[in-house]
Amino acid sequence: MARQPARNRKPGLVVVGGTRVNRALGEVWLVGAGPGDPDLLTFRAFNALRAADVVVHDGLVSEEILDLAPSRVRRINVAKRKSRHTLPQDDINQLIVALALDGLNVVRLKGGDPFLFGRGGEELAACREAGVECHVVPGVTAALAASAGAGAPLTHRGSAQAVTFVTGHAAKGEPDLDWTALARPNQTVVVYMGVSTAGLIAERLMAAGRAGSTPALIVENASRADERRVLTTLTGLAEAAQAVKGPALLMVGEAMAMAQQNSAPLRQGASEVSEWLPAVAGMSGVTE
Ligand SMILES: C[S@@+](CC[C@H](N)C(=O)[O-])C[C@H]1O[C@@H](n2cnc3c(N)ncnc32)[C@H](O)[C@@H]1O
Repeated sequence: MARQPARNRKPGLVVVGGTRVNRALGEVWLVGAGPGDPDLLTFRAFNALRAADVVVHDGLVSEEILDLAPSRVRRINVAKRKSRHTLPQDDINQLIVALALDGLNVVRLKGGDPFLFGRGGEELAACREAGVECHVVPGVTAALAASAGAGAPLTHRGSAQAVTFVTGHAAKGEPDLDWTALARPNQTVVVYMGVSTAGLIAERLMAAGRAGSTPALIVENASRADERRVLTTLTGLAEAAQAVKGPALLMVGEAMAMAQQNSAPLRQGASEVSEWLPAVAGMSGVTE
């Protein structure tokens, strides 16, 4: 593909390089850093980090993972600036493009997987538009780590025939979701960015027909040393979510009754959940 000059670049946004003359174009790697534990980083992600000139990362990427990059590698945290505000997405797009056009190999390191609620598609599009080569390295998304850590499968024969990942982020007051579809039984609904809207999500699901006694698991800081899990029900979800401080997932569905908790003081609605346990635990252990 012919390389095009970047369009609409904001002057003054990027101050890099300048020492090499006529350098070749660099490339961008959109890399999934996984949910936090460095053990869950892929080899491809590790190799990309080792070969990077600069790492542009989010706030959710752990220091342990950033430290895997050689010390010569420049780090740019786009989540923490002097103003404490995250750099706007358009500026991030322009930043990675400009760094690559300046001849640097850019690792754009994102929590989890870059294409799952990670805005990786926008960054890929910006690179394509600028004629910058862009590679995507998948990462372990938070839901997979949360499910594995809790011992609660996202699909489970007889109790979860499907799994749906949704965002609970509400741009205009309420998440724009198909509540009727999500309220059907026999499926797991995983909500990213849903802690602040947990009450509303539970209400909408129950109004659309999902039983209030449906197990609901909250996993905070999945895969990290401070991971916490709270097993509750749809009815207890809003109250349980109030204690959450870090990044967390809401996971709703019958199979979540298999979850093992690690935070007894925060346990909510345990008696309702225990009703589900014999039914789910007695099913075939074969997951699909
Ligand atoms: C912008 S999304 C990024 C998701 C990421 N791309 C992924 O695949 O996991 C941020 C949300 O992901 C979830 N999340 C990310 N890391 C997490 C973790 N370690 N434990 C629990 N939830 C996490 C939270 O819901 C958080 O609000």
